[in-house]
Amino acid sequence: MRKKIFLLSFLFAGILQFIFAGNADKLIGNQISVFYPKNYNPANHYPSIALLKEPQSVGNIPADWKLKPRFYLKNGKSVATLPIAKGTSLYGTGENTGSLLRNGKQVTLWNTDNYEYKKDGGKRLYQSHPWVMGVNADGTAFGVIADNSWKQQIELTDSIRFISDGPAFRLIIIQRNSPQEVLKALAGLVGKMEMPPLWALGYQQCRYSYVPDTRIKSLADTFRLKKLPCDVIWMDIDYMDSFKIFTFDKNKIPNPKAVNDYLHQKGFKSVWMIDPGVKAEKGYFVYDSGSKGNHWVQNKDGKEYNGKVWPGKCAFPDFTRPETRAWWGDLYKDFMAQGVDGVWNDMNEPSVFDGPDGTMPEDNHHRGGGELPAGSHLRYHNVYGTLMVKASREGILKANPDKRPFILSRSGFLGSHRYGATWTGDNSATEGYMKESTPLSLNLGLSGQPFSGPDMGGFTGNTTPDLFAKWIAMGAYFPFMRGHASNDANNKEPWAFGPEVEQVSRTALQRRYRLLPYLYTQFREASVSGIPVMQPVFFADPKDTTLRKEDRAYMVGSQLLIVPKWAAQPALPKGIWRSFIPENEVADNYQADMKVKGGAIIPLGKIIENTTQYKTDSLTLVVALDKNGQAKGVLYEDAGDGFGYQKGEYLISQFAAKQVGNVVNVTITPQSGNMKQVRHHYKVRLLTANGEYTSDWNAKPVIRVVTSKRNKK
Ligand code: NOJ
Repeated sequence: MRKKIFLLSFLFAGILQFIFAGNADKLIGNQISVFYPKNYNPANHYPSIALLKEPQSVGNIPADWKLKPRFYLKNGKSVATLPIAKGTSLYGTGENTGSLLRNGKQVTLWNTDNYEYKKDGGKRLYQSHPWVMGVNADGTAFGVIADNSWKQQIELTDSIRFISDGPAFRLIIIQRNSPQEVLKALAGLVGKMEMPPLWALGYQQCRYSYVPDTRIKSLADTFRLKKLPCDVIWMDIDYMDSFKIFTFDKNKIPNPKAVNDYLHQKGFKSVWMIDPGVKAEKGYFVYDSGSKGNHWVQNKDGKEYNGKVWPGKCAFPDFTRPETRAWWGDLYKDFMAQGVDGVWNDMNEPSVFDGPDGTMPEDNHHRGGGELPAGSHLRYHNVYGTLMVKASREGILKANPDKRPFILSRSGFLGSHRYGATWTGDNSATEGYMKESTPLSLNLGLSGQPFSGPDMGGFTGNTTPDLFAKWIAMGAYFPFMRGHASNDANNKEPWAFGPEVEQVSRTALQRRYRLLPYLYTQFREASVSGIPVMQPVFFADPKDTTLRKEDRAYMVGSQLLIVPKWAAQPALPKGIWRSFIPENEVADNYQADMKVKGGAIIPLGKIIENTTQYKTDSLTLVVALDKNGQAKGVLYEDAGDGFGYQKGEYLISQFAAKQVGNVVNVTITPQSGNMKQVRHHYKVRLLTANGEYTSDWNAKPVIRVVTSKRNKK
């Protein structure tokens, strides 16, 4: 058997040598080049898990190409370096602790279950992105992919240096005029996020764990009773029978379908956890069918590998095998039929309690299949979670072909945003972790993953009322907004901290829900162009080097700036930015300052309690004119779920404002898509240096706002 595998891989390597003919450096797109070290062997890396497809040559690298890497071997490790010019700001490197600006940082790419980010000083977390983006002093930018999945380090001390424990690897380098253009090019190579269902943009409530069923129901009732907007309730591991995945504890959740029906009736969706570790117990259907199909990761001797996770001794699906991915995907059929809406894939670094360094031995054996060759865990560790989520996504889609899958994964790799969203793991209830959550999500966005957020309120430890209020007020605009709490921490629902914090939470959540028309439009933008939903402030003006470090304030899309209340003297972009407060809001000391860019129009919806009530039939357009008295905005709408939008069932409307004398005309023009525009009311709030002017409600295609008459508020 071993001999056969050896012969096959020999043949495979031969074919690859042919495909990569000479591994010559080449241009693979407009201002995108690939560089190979001399000793590159494609059999060690092909096919790339990060890339959508194998890049093809479009010509020779131009003679004036500036960014040229150097490859060498040091202490048995494969190294690639790229010199950087003075004044270059570095970003990306995926999910990492520390500031937004990555200059001077060292990062380890080895997906790690890193409780409270304490292991290895937080140098490695749950995900790996062999990717660095550089912004030059003049605002032009570049990006580098170290195209390999092996354990590696990124050093950003004096240059950009990738140091891999694996064999020599290639670098792909993108050059562009702006960081935004670099991210679009990155998305062209590693793919874009698919549109998530609208409900996934709502507020989500989690705890380790809400059981039994009566607790889940009363949680849902309380949200509605208190009129606190919420869309999703999450079920952590304790719903399972002895932590066995795809089972339900008969005492705690005797009728899962009834729980989901109850939640649906109240306008909630449910997300349930599925981990990769399968309890190694004969008679348990997942273990039995997995063993029958020979689906388990093997140890170096070719035997089933076992390690401990929540259920005790576990076996782990070998997601490098196409047969295993198909088997895994099919397990979701009966599970989803219980009315499950979304799936949470946790512990998929994979975390192994009694394994070396908390995971599998590096010499464990993955058998691969299809194009993917057999290989060691050292090669496949960083993509284990990604391949798991890919399999989950395919299975969930097969079970519910008319719904957009929603999966949250803890582990990930460059490109894993194609399969699911992510959160930043086990943080803690302190201001430090709260503040760090912004650069974490920003750098994930700058590394291809637009859909992320922290455990809001802090996972471990008890959260104080003040911290919760601060966190929910700043977190209301993150792409993913979920409150979570560990099993030994205090209650962290918005009402758990007394009436004042409950009201602060209500206001923050209502803001998020009112912003949904704008937020959903940013998700659409990310899904078509690869521009992240949450953006660093320097995106507003990449040439302004004073903005490069700012990571307390952040932007949602390119038109809305969020300045958390606690952020003292943040570096903000020059030009016109106008603050606004949604109508009839209860004032408090926590809400963030929302600033609209001069020249922008932001559509707001109504206050709703969940996205089943979401309608765009009456909108408030918040308008801030630029120095020429003009502004523009966009609204994307579709059914909020399903795939009709891919066949044209959507609507993109363009808003434009123009000042003529003391009148501002705001026009609304449908631009593309087949969906019918249903609008009953528009209200325009015009923000100016002299205060605010509003129009009457009407639904005409042109709205006049007279700036000589100041409306009373
Ligand atoms: C670890 C995850 O990071 C955490 O969010 C979850 O609550 C626990 N596993 C229990 O499943």
